[in-house]
Amino acid sequence: MSDPTRETVTAPAPGLHIGVDYYPEHWPESRWPRDAGLMAGMGVDFARMGEFAWHRFEPREGDYDFAWMDRAIEILAAHGIRTILGTPSAAPPAWLIRKHPEILPLDSQGRRAGFGGRHHDCQSNPAYRRSIRRLVTAMARHYRDNPHVVGWQIDNELGNSHDDLCFCRSCVHTFQGWLEEKYGSVEALNEAWGTAFWSQTYNSFTEIDAPRHTVAGKNPSQELDWKRFCSDLIVDFQRLQVDILRRECPRHFITHNLMSFAEKVNYYDLARDLDFVSHDQYPSGFYLSGIDPARSAAQLDVVRSFAGRPFWIMEQQAGASGWGVMGRTPEPGQLALWATQAVAHGADAVCFFRWRTCTVGTEQYWHGILPHHGEPGRRYAELAAWARAIRPQLAELAGSMPEARVAIVYDYDQYWALRIQPQNQALRYVDELQHWYRLFHEQNITVDFIPEGRRLDGYCLVVAPLQYLMRPGQERLYCDYVSGGGHLILGYRAGVKDDSNRVRAGAPLPGALLGGLLGLRIHDYDCLQDAAVGLRAAEDEAVPAGTGTIWADWIELDGAHPLLRYDGYNDDGPAATVHEYGAGRACYFGTRPDHATLARLLVPLLTELGLAPDPASGLEVIERTAGTARWRFRLNHGSAPQGGLPPYGYDITRLDS
Ligand code: GAL
Repeated sequence: MSDPTRETVTAPAPGLHIGVDYYPEHWPESRWPRDAGLMAGMGVDFARMGEFAWHRFEPREGDYDFAWMDRAIEILAAHGIRTILGTPSAAPPAWLIRKHPEILPLDSQGRRAGFGGRHHDCQSNPAYRRSIRRLVTAMARHYRDNPHVVGWQIDNELGNSHDDLCFCRSCVHTFQGWLEEKYGSVEALNEAWGTAFWSQTYNSFTEIDAPRHTVAGKNPSQELDWKRFCSDLIVDFQRLQVDILRRECPRHFITHNLMSFAEKVNYYDLARDLDFVSHDQYPSGFYLSGIDPARSAAQLDVVRSFAGRPFWIMEQQAGASGWGVMGRTPEPGQLALWATQAVAHGADAVCFFRWRTCTVGTEQYWHGILPHHGEPGRRYAELAAWARAIRPQLAELAGSMPEARVAIVYDYDQYWALRIQPQNQALRYVDELQHWYRLFHEQNITVDFIPEGRRLDGYCLVVAPLQYLMRPGQERLYCDYVSGGGHLILGYRAGVKDDSNRVRAGAPLPGALLGGLLGLRIHDYDCLQDAAVGLRAAEDEAVPAGTGTIWADWIELDGAHPLLRYDGYNDDGPAATVHEYGAGRACYFGTRPDHATLARLLVPLLTELGLAPDPASGLEVIERTAGTARWRFRLNHGSAPQGGLPPYGYDITRLDS
């Protein structure tokens, strides 16, 4: 569902669509003109630069040097290529670390990270923040009137590279202030965290620590607040830089490169301060995890959903990935196909990472468009042909959006709470979402991801696979949505916890309100660990359905009808249900059915809802629309011809209504 006030979105940098991530500081200056010529030859119109070049910009404290970047920008501009500058806070230099070693983050076990990677930073550290403020201000003042600079990327993949964020004194102190603001009194915090357990009661906020490594166990409520705090800290860290750039460079756009389902920072919050979000898309995964078009599609859809508008790809895979070990080499056609998939799901611009494969440092095997030796090869030819073909379409498509009538609830509190207590060791929040997403993707039904609290009435089907934490407002929202005619699917573990990560105990699961909505009570449950239980379609006992894994709720019906029953387990009781409620319907899944069972059960519902399920002979099909204009993308992710498309082929057709 697109926001009606944003039907057609003005492109932030009109005319810019194809870019490369360029690191002039890695190559001799004598090479730059040739790079610029080759970029222009393949249709590149912008380059992102500078996001790791702190030391080149400020080799010694306060001694700024922008002349080298000015020359790079000029050379690119002479070839019609404009610049997006990264603020280089992702790589604080050695001189700064030597002066302020406390910038290096402390992990939950009290170990300090060393210098020599990147993002070795404590984001609350005052000295670090002061240095960034000075450097970003100097950069902003230097570049605000440069006609070739169009915008900024803040830092790089905020929240990446940190396992634990930072547990130093500055972070703990900031956490205490955050808690005091949230709870007002320490008594309220004690109540919310249930500190009566194991004598964890605090007398004042200053006694509270970060949830660092303990001898035995941690308080899940404290851990959840810590994750919320860390996310807010990252948002605040970004805002520090955004504020400077807004003030100094009012004509420039500001973006940041996200990582789809990464969990360190709430991207809905992070997106709020940006003109548009960007994303780094590596369909082959970091290393060896294989290609999964549905996973890539979900990553793109979630990124589009963070701000509910078109986005940019700031890093698109341009070759085999690799640090210490390497991934498989993309087959001819795959790089272009993956870039097209990004456009199909809402990207207005695609920037390839990286221009030339680096010969030094950690990422020597993360392949760019040019190979190590710098002469154009097959990747250059493939992407140049892609750029030529798609450029006119990108110009037309800018601002248009895929329109979704199905939403999957994706919320960071759920993500974090289930990280803290997954219950089943195999339970992964994002995997569960993907399990549902795959069903829609296979049927070529477009999906938005939405946070809790968002109005639901523009969607005809809402799926909340793991609505584990349940806020009263959200419960009400679901009831109103269904009674007004909506279709809702909730999954197992719905309503277990409250907002403070305490178990709700007022009524049997899933709670009184949800129980009424779903027409059932859960009288017991079984965390299946690695066992599977049999499932059978309830309306036709003869049809064996498949298996349920991860979890099995023991459901007592109170108005609902069974959709699936257990087979040879729990007296063949209901495993999935449907309940008419007001003008709509609420379904509940007490287990995770295998994919085929889910599809068998739900495709008829999707048809009934007019969602036009269309497995389109194995192709991925998606549309972008703007007013009456419509573009249909067909993508063949297979290595054999399908649907009239060659292996890894695609087409884009304009079908105005
Ligand atoms: C991204 C990151 C890039 C580069 C790339 C390949 O996550 O933003 O700077 O590191 O991965 O490793």
